[in-house]
Amino acid sequence: MPNMFNTVGEYLVIFIAITVITFIKLLITPEGTPIFNVYRTPSSLHWLKTGVMFIILSIQKLQRMLASTSIEYENLETPQLLAHDNAIDFVYFTACNAEGDNFTASIARRSSSLADAHLFLKLPSSSLGLMEHPNTPSTTFSTDKSEFHAEGLKMISVTPVKKWKITYDGKMRATADSSRLYSIQIYLTFRSSIPIFDSVVDIDSFLTASAISLEPWSVEYFQLLNKKDRLHYGQFGELSGKIVIEGKEYTLSMDAIRYRSYDANWNWAVVHRSVVHYLTAENGDRFIIGKESMPITLSNLTWGFVYCVREKKTYPLQGCNFELYQHGEEEEPPMDYAFICSAGNRQYAIQIKVEQSSVCYVSKEWECKVIERICNAEIDGKRGWGTSRWLYRNVYGKS
Ligand SMILES: *[C@@H]1O[C@H](CO)[C@@H](O)[C@H](O)[C@H]1NC(C)=O
Ligand SMILES: *[C@@H]1O[C@H](CO)[C@@H](O)[C@H](O)[C@H]1NC(C)=O
Repeated sequence: MPNMFNTVGEYLVIFIAITVITFIKLLITPEGTPIFNVYRTPSSLHWLKTGVMFIILSIQKLQRMLASTSIEYENLETPQLLAHDNAIDFVYFTACNAEGDNFTASIARRSSSLADAHLFLKLPSSSLGLMEHPNTPSTTFSTDKSEFHAEGLKMISVTPVKKWKITYDGKMRATADSSRLYSIQIYLTFRSSIPIFDSVVDIDSFLTASAISLEPWSVEYFQLLNKKDRLHYGQFGELSGKIVIEGKEYTLSMDAIRYRSYDANWNWAVVHRSVVHYLTAENGDRFIIGKESMPITLSNLTWGFVYCVREKKTYPLQGCNFELYQHGEEEEPPMDYAFICSAGNRQYAIQIKVEQSSVCYVSKEWECKVIERICNAEIDGKRGWGTSRWLYRNVYGKS
């Protein structure tokens, strides 16, 4: 019997055929079923799509650098125009220190003179435990159109990008005994000389590219993704001042993170889930680590920033193995867990232990449930602390 294949040419043809068939097979491998029908899994073209997207995003970054069209954050600190019914203009502060003082306050301005505001506070030296605004779990207030103002809570940008004032004059209640209201005055100042990080333009291109490439691509998809008129940035800093509870004065100083966002036409219903960790390590390193799932655009997005105190530099997050679908998808979020993240070519192992949490609902129809969770952390063996903000789509609405 003669040999089936003799010449090098014949072998070459077979080799090419196998390569082509394998490639075609790869191309037509359907996308896997999304996890929980929400979180898309990589298709066989994932790496090719990631590569293409990474090149596009890198070119955009380069163009921005060459054109030196830096965003003027100074002009964005003040309340923005709320033209559309669904516009949202948001300021958020979260702060804590080694003594165990915790403070979180946010105001989201909305159209028709409404605002979603949230305030909670814990001063161990007051022995009153966690205190929250008496309206909790509702967060909706009527407000002054042109300010970050909701009932007694006010936030004012004194020197843009450097200094904010937060004041409150009103009641708060202790979560342990909700029947009793305390009269509280808060006078706090946020200061920072650390540059802003922008969660739209400064994030890691590779991480974003890999999130975009998980989704099916179409012209409509890129139109959705390309949404203009939005703004997301944050800043690490210090929050200090005094808090008066029933006439008794407490002076405090905390590590703080400030976050600011604006969207000309925002719909809470698009957020399936989101978890953002705001952490400080005892050596002064700061972390903001976000995981978001908005199935119509990005079902599995990772973003964040790490401020390295030794280098006095903020790095974009390059990776994080915390997955939403592994943490409290159907039930209560876990009380203790750990993950690894990387930024500035360093890895950080982060262990979280949740100490306390407070639940509230935002938006007109309570479209979204927010769980603010105070946590202790261990970051590469160092002590750490902070909060995590867990958002869930509340399909039940206001009920
Ligand atoms: C979600 O994104 C992260 C970070 O890019 C990635 O490590 C993870 O594998 C993704 N999950 C799925 C199901 O694709
Ligand atoms: C905030 O309160 C919790 C709960 O008591 C406490 O364990 C924690 O240490 C505090 N946070 C900080 C920043 O220390």
